[in-house]
Amino acid sequence: MARLLVVHHTPSPATQELLEAALAGARDPQVNDGSIDVVVRPALVASVVETLEADGYLLATPANIGYVSGALKHYFDTIYYPCLEATRGRPFAAWVHGNLDVTGAVRAIESITTGLKWRAVAPVVTVAGAPQAEEREAVHDLAATLAATLS
Ligand SMILES: Cc1cc2nc3c(=O)[nH]c(=O)nc-3n(C[C@H](O)[C@H](O)[C@H](O)COP(=O)(O)O)c2cc1C
Repeated sequence: MARLLVVHHTPSPATQELLEAALAGARDPQVNDGSIDVVVRPALVASVVETLEADGYLLATPANIGYVSGALKHYFDTIYYPCLEATRGRPFAAWVHGNLDVTGAVRAIESITTGLKWRAVAPVVTVAGAPQAEEREAVHDLAATLAATLS
């Protein structure tokens, strides 16, 4: 069974809405007939072993002070070297929620995942303010796209 690891920092109702949309996408029967195990972990507790045991990664963070959240940064700090060789080439997707300027957060995800040599299945999705239906759909579809690569 393939495994999709969702690593998220979800500090508010707006970010929770996006997480729920993504989980619905990852579990959508059109792309996941039950053969993809979706493992959901807050970024502050997601571990090296869980990262090694996954086949793909869905990352979610707010923009915080021009960068990814400290929680997602902590995740990358934790897994970077222990997972560098074993996870090379694995697929990932990400979204960033912010209220003003998500540029630095997007750049950080692109730069860190380039270092890890993870393979983006789509550009980072960005959402500003209260998520609208089309933004929830974009995050849903992002997760479904990633899941489809694992099936
Ligand atoms: C300390 C702090 C720093 C933040 N920095 C940024 C930022 O650099 N860019 C941005 O777009 N939003 C920034 N935000 C807004 C958060 O991204 C936003 O609060 C988070 O995505 C949750 O969304 P919500 O507050 O609408 O529920 C910041 C929030 C906090 C608390």
